Amino acid sequence: MSRSRRSRRKTQARQDRVVLRWLWETFVRQRILLLSAAFVLMVVESLTLGAFSYLVQPMFDDVLIQGDRAQVYVVALAMAATFLGRGLARLAGKAIIVWQAEKATAQLQSLLLGHLITLDQGFFKHMSPGVLIERVRGDSAALRSVFDALITGIGRDGSAVIVLLGVALWTDWQWTLVAMAGIPLLGVPMLAIQRLIRRRSTESRRVAAQSSNRLDEAFHGITTLQLTGSEAQELGRFNRIKEQFVSRMTRAKIGKAAVPTLLDFGAAIGFGLVLIVGGLQIIDGSRTVGQFMSFFTALGLLFDPLRRLSSLAAQWQHILASLERTHELLQVRPDVTSPPPPHMPPPARDKASVTLNNVSFAYDSDPVLRGISFEAPAGQTTAIVGPSGAGKSTVFSLLTRMIDATEGEVLIGGQDVRRMDLVQLRAQFSVVSQDTALFDETIRDNILLGAPHASDEALAEAIRAAHVNEFLPLLSKGLETRAGPRGSNLSGGQRQRVAIARALLRDTPILLLDEATSALDSRSEALVQAALSRLTTGRTTLVIAHRLSTVRDADQILVMDKGQIVEKGDHISLLALGGSYAKLHALQFADQSETSAN
Ligand SMILES: Nc1ncnc2c1ncn2[C@@H]1O[C@H](COP(=O)(O)OP(=O)(O)OP(=O)(O)O)[C@@H](O)[C@H]1O
Ligand SMILES: [Mg+2]
Repeated sequence: MSRSRRSRRKTQARQDRVVLRWLWETFVRQRILLLSAAFVLMVVESLTLGAFSYLVQPMFDDVLIQGDRAQVYVVALAMAATFLGRGLARLAGKAIIVWQAEKATAQLQSLLLGHLITLDQGFFKHMSPGVLIERVRGDSAALRSVFDALITGIGRDGSAVIVLLGVALWTDWQWTLVAMAGIPLLGVPMLAIQRLIRRRSTESRRVAAQSSNRLDEAFHGITTLQLTGSEAQELGRFNRIKEQFVSRMTRAKIGKAAVPTLLDFGAAIGFGLVLIVGGLQIIDGSRTVGQFMSFFTALGLLFDPLRRLSSLAAQWQHILASLERTHELLQVRPDVTSPPPPHMPPPARDKASVTLNNVSFAYDSDPVLRGISFEAPAGQTTAIVGPSGAGKSTVFSLLTRMIDATEGEVLIGGQDVRRMDLVQLRAQFSVVSQDTALFDETIRDNILLGAPHASDEALAEAIRAAHVNEFLPLLSKGLETRAGPRGSNLSGGQRQRVAIARALLRDTPILLLDEATSALDSRSEALVQAALSRLTTGRTTLVIAHRLSTVRDADQILVMDKGQIVEKGDHISLLALGGSYAKLHALQFADQSETSAN
């Protein structure tokens, strides 16, 4: 074996140990009593198998051949009791395992989601929702099989093998040895098959994640696919992934199925030899028919659990591969975290200014912001304008620490945002972002998100100010109407108004509005703007807008281009400057006069 392969195996073994310890400490230890009970019940179940095969001998020798009348009843009763006990033990054992396996799986999924929602944009940039859904649901199912495979496998099948082997040895140890003659031949192919399964199942889990990803994107982008006539192309992509999946999964499963087949080869040799040896001995009269039947029953019963046990090792590889990926996911640490205490307290409401000092930011290596500095004074409105892709939304993400600056500092109330508690920091902001997420809850719950304890009056006021009440009568259940998955039951403008109401209700010192009214018609926009400007008094407000008409009253306007601030001032002074802002303004003004001319 080459050195690198050996060291790879060593690393694998170390990883397996880590995963096993985690499995034990997080999921098994707390339920060890219940699981032991289930284990005992499984052992009881398999003991009954031993009892049954043992009873075959008196059945033949005493009852059927000797004709002992009294024994008929005893043996019949013992047989009946055996099967009754078996049924009850199996039901109780299975019930415990199913219950605990479901609980543990749910626990793991909750653990995963709880962990994933703390991670930052850097992580989600590389992990799509589809992949993550597959990870949370698909991979965690492995935990369910741990309980089933291990306890049922080892408890029932393991002890059945021991008990039945005991009966076989007790009946005739020489026959037993003869019967097992074929088994040593199976060792090497068995090991090879296991390796293959581990590899293929790791790959197939990966491809499964890809296919979930495609499904997720296809269903979310269904309208775009239909409008661009790309249905066939999308289906083709999906089919290619599925082809890969089929090939990997088939190989893993065939590998798994090959294990019991190997065992059957062993059985073929064993049964044949025993039949010859035992048959000749009975004809000679040195053994009874009852002995042989008892032995044969034990042997026949033995192969089933043995076959299951042998595929257990393969299944275990499959499970380990999944658990390892899950464990890995739980080890990912976010880059953006709360600093260790003591935390800087958030600034007083009237001191919540926003300052960027020479801030640069890059996704991977692409610079997005390059040395930005500005101050948005507390209680005033600062507007950010500039072409698409200039980095405006990125500035907002820095303020709320959705991302951290690669260089420079971001301050609110003169304090570095990285020295404040993350939850407290985010509690300073109400954000209406460019792509607001609504959830499949009622409109009421969507507005109350982020301010769950708001009073009914405050809710009504926010609804009025954001002009949500204008479209509520159009909806079947008004405020209690569900917004649909991602808010799909509402129009773009309606979604925006719900988002504005949500932000207003939060009543925080700083308000961030990113194209907050872009989807509204002119009349609604004017009305919502009026409500917003009432709200922005006394609050530090940052507004991003393409339509300059919405920012002309701002105390300060920042013009951004290619990750830099190129102009700064108020509407009048920027117009007088005759630079980018003036040009942008002239363009929009020309548009407007054209529209009004039409
Ligand atoms: N998750 C991301 N990964 C990599 N690059 C990104 C990511 N998000 C944004 N960018 C890049 O950052 C740059 C600035 O994006 P940003 O969203 O800040 O622009 P913007 O000024 O808000 O534009 P718009 O007016 O179109 O909303 C863009 O060039 C974009 O390609
Ligand atoms: Mg933007």
